[in-house]
Amino acid sequence: MEKIGVLTSGGDAPGMNAAIRAVVRAALARGLHVVGIRRGYAGLLAKDMPRLGLKSVTNIVQRSGTVLETRRCQEMYTPEGRARAIENLREEGVEGLVAIGGDGTFRGATLLAAEGGIKVVGIPGTIDNDIYGTDATIGFDTAVNTALEAIDKIRDTAESLERLFFVEVMGRTRGFIALHVGVAGGAEQILIPESEEDVDELCRSLERSFGRGKRSAIVVVAEGDEAGGAIGIARRVASCLKTESRVCILGHVQRGGSPTARDRILASKLGVAAVAALAEGRDGCMVGEVEGRIVHTPLHETWEKTKELDPSLLDLMKVLAT
Ligand code: F6P
Repeated sequence: MEKIGVLTSGGDAPGMNAAIRAVVRAALARGLHVVGIRRGYAGLLAKDMPRLGLKSVTNIVQRSGTVLETRRCQEMYTPEGRARAIENLREEGVEGLVAIGGDGTFRGATLLAAEGGIKVVGIPGTIDNDIYGTDATIGFDTAVNTALEAIDKIRDTAESLERLFFVEVMGRTRGFIALHVGVAGGAEQILIPESEEDVDELCRSLERSFGRGKRSAIVVVAEGDEAGGAIGIARRVASCLKTESRVCILGHVQRGGSPTARDRILASKLGVAAVAALAEGRDGCMVGEVEGRIVHTPLHETWEKTKELDPSLLDLMKVLAT
């Protein structure tokens, strides 16, 4: 193998740049040439693949977003789109591809690897942490800390005005961010899509909290919660408790900000591991970190299998969120 390509796809996540940097530096150290594919699979189809050298990744380890830019690209789900992608890579002499992203990225990468003609290795980069085959995805730790900082601030005003707050955090279909932020932020309740909400029980529990003398409360709600997000829940609780509340949707703030040390280190490890995997001739897998070790998981398993929430945190939630 002489030349590899790297792309970022789907929602950006803090630490993606650190991963790009690690891929480029590790590849150059092995004497490989590297191209950066701009705007994810869209750039692959448009043959937008500038050559990357040592200098092109200088001073990006601390920056959020992705210097390669990113898109969601439906065309990659068509056989014609993938044939064109492979043809473009072949014309550029690219034999290996590192795809950094989440489940959508890996669905595309699985199909691309199955068509043959290009070796594909994935790196998990999404704030949602919903990828099987790694304890944490790149960007999750930063997003949790960003949301936590916001919740600490909300607590200041909630306490002063004796208010009930509903704070919605990201996590399209999963409750990883909500669970971690809720436990770390001392939330009175944490609502996640993995468990069905009983709004009456939520109201009773909040009543008990106020009855015990609490003057304010924070309910963390995962955006994917089946009870309808923070606005829907707040409305239902308001009519039952007859009390005033406020809603704060943290939204895309959680996707920005300088990556934490933990995310930068994870990204650096996985970037180097992805290049090593390609050099070893691996194909159609994702590199992840499980209990401190680098593991290789078939790409299709990363989105077909379900990563479980940490059961010990779920237990903590039951005892502490009250
Ligand atoms: O997958 C990452 C994520 O930030 C989810 O948590 C969220 O639901 C989604 O992306 C938002 O996507 P968009 O940036 O397209 O609004």
